[in-house]
Amino acid sequence: MGPGMRGSMPRHHAAMMSGIPAPYDAMSNPLPRTRETVERGARVYTENCATCHGATGFGDGPAGRDLSPRPGNLAWLSEMPMGHWDSFMYWTVAEGGTPFGTAMPAFKDGLSKDDIWAVIAYVQARLPQSAK
Ligand code: HEC
Repeated sequence: MGPGMRGSMPRHHAAMMSGIPAPYDAMSNPLPRTRETVERGARVYTENCATCHGATGFGDGPAGRDLSPRPGNLAWLSEMPMGHWDSFMYWTVAEGGTPFGTAMPAFKDGLSKDDIWAVIAYVQARLPQSAK
């Protein structure tokens, strides 16, 4: 098990075995795949995610170090098929760790739908490439 897998095995297992729960199962990103979308996602990421997931998405942010399980490695996830599965990504960000008892916050009330989709597009665009 690589470092990228640590922390999100129950989530991946649930998604594989039971699928994504409704209403998330039918969702796909309505935003255009443009530079504007990705730049908006980068701002959402810096303000809401980087403290745990780290500036480059490795899961090594200062607020994530003492969490158990640790924040997912989003740089790794962005290269996996599941990271490009919109329903999986939206469900994860909207509901957070509630179903699994993890520290991943639920963002469905804190972020607009478009902000959630923008940050997903940013992760799927593989975060800051140059920093990897
Ligand atoms: C308080 C720390 C914290 C913050 C802030 C946070 N996360 Fe997480 N995140 C976690 C933890 C811990 C996990 C691993 C456990 C889990 O999957 O529930 C996780 C898991 C994930 C996963 C699943 C990773 C995988 O391999 O399947 C995604 C996607 C994700 N976070 C995206 C985000 C996004 C996008 C934001 C900002 C909008 C964010 N997170 C903010 C702690 C955080």
